[in-house]
Amino acid sequence: MLRIGFITSGGDCQSLNATMRGVAKTLYNNVKDVEIYGILEGYKGLMYGNYRLLKPKDFSGVLTLGGTIIGTSRQPFKLMNVPDENGLDKVKAMKDTYKKLKLDCLVILGGNGTHKTANLLSEEGLNVVTCPKTIDNDIWGTDMTFGFQSAVDIATNVIDCIHTTAASHGRVFIVEVMGHKVGWMTLHAGIAGGADVILLPEVPYDINKVANALKKRAKEGKRFSIIAVAEGAISKEDAKLSKKEYKEKYKNSTDPSVAYRIGREITEKCGQEVRITIPGHTQRGGSPCAYDRVISTRLGVAAAKLIMEEKYGYMVGFDGDKIVPVPLNEVAGKLKYVPKDCQMIKEAKALGICFGD
Ligand code: F6P
Repeated sequence: MLRIGFITSGGDCQSLNATMRGVAKTLYNNVKDVEIYGILEGYKGLMYGNYRLLKPKDFSGVLTLGGTIIGTSRQPFKLMNVPDENGLDKVKAMKDTYKKLKLDCLVILGGNGTHKTANLLSEEGLNVVTCPKTIDNDIWGTDMTFGFQSAVDIATNVIDCIHTTAASHGRVFIVEVMGHKVGWMTLHAGIAGGADVILLPEVPYDINKVANALKKRAKEGKRFSIIAVAEGAISKEDAKLSKKEYKEKYKNSTDPSVAYRIGREITEKCGQEVRITIPGHTQRGGSPCAYDRVISTRLGVAAAKLIMEEKYGYMVGFDGDKIVPVPLNEVAGKLKYVPKDCQMIKEAKALGICFGD
């Protein structure tokens, strides 16, 4: 009997169910006796012993279903070694649930924070295999994460919709794209949506350069401009500040997010009317796109194969189009940023897109 436990942890995304389905179907098809438990609401379920036995029928009809059938939650890694309000030792509790269920392996689907805890559990002696989930595409050790392409499609669709109204009104529109501390989503959606300005956390902007680009477009008779801003975009001056100095500088700010700050500064500098759109969590919602369904299925099969080979302590990741096992201790604690001088940024600049640098 092979017993495995699924955990989906951190922010959700569109292709979690498709990935679990890939693992489950491969195991049901290739191993004689398999029992799969869904650990409910991320690591919280492992800590507090909340789980349910999943059956093959639970994985039917979920390829196209967004969200996660077993729930998720954020359990910060930095608090893993801090007892809960009732004094519970979280790491010990997670190990106890694993032993109680007599699991052979945990299959953990998650992003950066999730991978730190997955690595901790692996170092504590549990068998762990992980799959790279995040709309941000910022997991070190894989060229692609599932969820990213679906989210880029949604952000691109938002920019497309803004295009028609922007053209009618002759305004500056800012679309703020998710992505946490990295700009992969904004770069891809910005190019796919034909944005005129793209602002990324990795390329700190000078607001005067942004304003000049907008003025130039207006002078050329362009009635509108579209700016794709990453939620983590930062100005050149602010990028020089320490975390503490940054917090101090903006402690009384009334701007709800970076898009509002940039919008206000553009109106001050160019006198142009600005409107702001924040698609927010819609970017993580709905069904996975075809690309994500394919890579999730492939990653699921690869994770199942590792389990069948009893090869634990790895994330399945993409090296180009090939799936490779990447040791968890190499993945944990690192971020995959957009390289400032990457080909895509150079190509976008060649097209005339302004990055504000
Ligand atoms: O990591 C995925 C992500 O959607 C980021 O892009 C975003 O910064 C964050 O999660 C939002 O987190 P929450 O859902 O906890 O508000």
